[in-house]
Amino acid sequence: MLKRTKLIIGNWKMFKALSTAVNDYKEIVSLLAKKNAECSVGIAAPSLFLSELTKYSSNVVTLFAQNSHWENEGAFTGEISPFMLKDMRIAGSLVAHSERRQMFGETNQTAGKRLGALLKQGMQSVLCVGESLGERENGKLQKVISTQLQVALKFSGLRNSYEFIGSNPDFPLFSVAYEPVWAIGTGRAASAKEAQEAHQFIRRELAAYFNEDTAQKIKILYGGSVKPNNIQNFLSCPDVDGALVGGASLKPSDFVEMIF
Ligand code: PGA
Repeated sequence: MLKRTKLIIGNWKMFKALSTAVNDYKEIVSLLAKKNAECSVGIAAPSLFLSELTKYSSNVVTLFAQNSHWENEGAFTGEISPFMLKDMRIAGSLVAHSERRQMFGETNQTAGKRLGALLKQGMQSVLCVGESLGERENGKLQKVISTQLQVALKFSGLRNSYEFIGSNPDFPLFSVAYEPVWAIGTGRAASAKEAQEAHQFIRRELAAYFNEDTAQKIKILYGGSVKPNNIQNFLSCPDVDGALVGGASLKPSDFVEMIF
C-alpha cells in the first residue's frame, strides 16, 4: 500500500494579535527544528499576518491562507487572490471551511472555483467537507459529502489528475479535510471508527472521480476537536492522513506535541 506522509495543519482562524502570531510561529519553527518530525506541518494563519510570518519561515512549516478568491485580480473588495498569495510565497489555502459555508455564503460551486484557481497556480489546496449533526442522524452523511466533493471538483474546471497532483506525486497539491460540523470547536470529536468510515468513503469517491492510483495519493485529513490526547487515534486509521487542528493549534507547545 502507498505510504502517504502525514500532514498536520494548524488553523488559527481569527485569533491572535500580530506580535503573538509572530512569537508563536517562531516558537513552532524552533520546536520543530529540534524534533526531526516525520510528518509535514502547516499553519493556516489570518491572511493579514502571512507576509510577516514568511520572514520566519523554514522548511519545517508551510504557510497557508484560510481562504482565497477564484479570480487573480479584480473589483472584489475585501478579498485576496491566489496570485497575491503566490507572490508572497504562501504555499496554498484552505477551501470552504465549514465556518465559511455556514456564515459567509460559501457554496459547493464557489468552493470548486476557489479550488480550481489555486490549483491552476500550482498551489496546495485543502478542500473541507463534512456533514451537520442533523444530516448524520438522518443518514445523509454519504450523500452530503459526495455532493460537496463532486460539485467542487466539477466547478474547479479541472479534470486531469495531474492538475490535482502537481509535479511532486509524494506531496500532491490537492488534499481533502473531513470535518464533521458537529465536532468543530465542540470538544466532541468523531470516534476513530467514524472518521475511518468517512475517509474510506471519500477515498472511494475520489477513485470514482479520478482513478484508484490518484485516490491513493491524495491526503485526507480529519478535523474536529483534535487534541494532543486523541490525535494518535485518528492517525492510526489507514485512511486518515493527517489532521486539521483548530483550538489545539493555538498554543505552540500543544500543537508541536501533536507532531511526531
Ligand atoms: P477545532 O477546529 O479543532 O477547534 O475543532 C477544527 C477546524 O475548524 O478546522
